[in-house]
Amino acid sequence: MTIALGEPGVGGLSEAVDALRDWQHEGAPMQLHPGDVGWFWRFGAEATAAAVRTWSRDGQILAVGLLDGHDLLRMTIAPEAQRDEELARRLVADVTQPEHGVLAQGTVYIEAPASALIQGLLAGEGWDTDEPRTPLRRDLGQPVKDLGVRIEVTGPEQAHVRAAVQRSAFDRSTFTDDRWHTMAAASPYADARCLVAYDDQGNAVAAVTVWSAGPGKPGLLEPMGVHRDHRGHGYGKAICVAAAAALQELGSSSAIVCTSSSNAGAVATYKSAGFQPLPEVRDRRRDA
Ligand SMILES: CC(C)(COP(=O)(O)OP(=O)(O)OC[C@H]1O[C@@H](n2cnc3c(N)ncnc32)[C@H](O)[C@@H]1OP(=O)(O)O)[C@@H](O)C(=O)NCCC(=O)NCCS
Repeated sequence: MTIALGEPGVGGLSEAVDALRDWQHEGAPMQLHPGDVGWFWRFGAEATAAAVRTWSRDGQILAVGLLDGHDLLRMTIAPEAQRDEELARRLVADVTQPEHGVLAQGTVYIEAPASALIQGLLAGEGWDTDEPRTPLRRDLGQPVKDLGVRIEVTGPEQAHVRAAVQRSAFDRSTFTDDRWHTMAAASPYADARCLVAYDDQGNAVAAVTVWSAGPGKPGLLEPMGVHRDHRGHGYGKAICVAAAAALQELGSSSAIVCTSSSNAGAVATYKSAGFQPLPEVRDRRRDA
């Protein structure tokens, strides 16, 4: 049985997102989450479809990739297929041969589950490892204690507020209220919430988007940030605790997030919000 590389198109996106949802489970390695596709969807369904790749055998999806720019493929593999040699060889062929059109030439990166067979095959082809990233996890088995900061769930009327906090927290962000509406109208957002924290003067100071993958599965924070004028007052901690509470309400078994290990402020903030760091992960990198 051969493996087929597919571009799902707009009509096939929900099947790819459903596969990602199925593959999330407690104890899984840090991996591509339905929320990553949901967050990408702010650029529109067409752009999202153009960025998604699937690998299938017999019509069954075994791996899903998300092209984040032309140089990074974020991908994950069905738990039962992570040691599947035929699949691993096909993935490597597709991502290492520019004529297959998955990654461009030049320096390129692949994010794949740490335990998957593809890691060793890429290493064998001379792929190096990139800078470490730290996954963090907060168990949601116990009640989440409210920190007393005012938090609101973003509805359509506050989309511009959510978007403004995003732009203020991330220097290169292009997020707008239009993009919020595009994201919020898409199917993955049915399991998501945007939260905004306010200070005592009513200023919007921090924001997060949380993505459930369904009851009993890990839910994702992506993205989280504090307005640059309001840092150092505990709002990062507060929005992360609120994110955990929102995911608990959505039925998630844990809240997970991953950030560059060099982003000391983010790692410290998640820890102070009760997230435990997990072993670091690294993308594979092939230099030009
Ligand atoms: C990282 C960020 C969210 C921190 O927000 P903040 O409101 O300043 O954080 P808080 O005031 O709630 O601080 C929480 C804890 O982190 C620590 N911390 C915050 N920034 C820090 C830094 N740059 N270096 C070291 N520790 C830091 C605080 O001392 C505090 O520790 P404590 O609870 O033990 O006292 C904010 O700087 C930001 O939005 N950065 C850009 C976006 C980003 O990187 N997001 C995360 C990407 S995944």
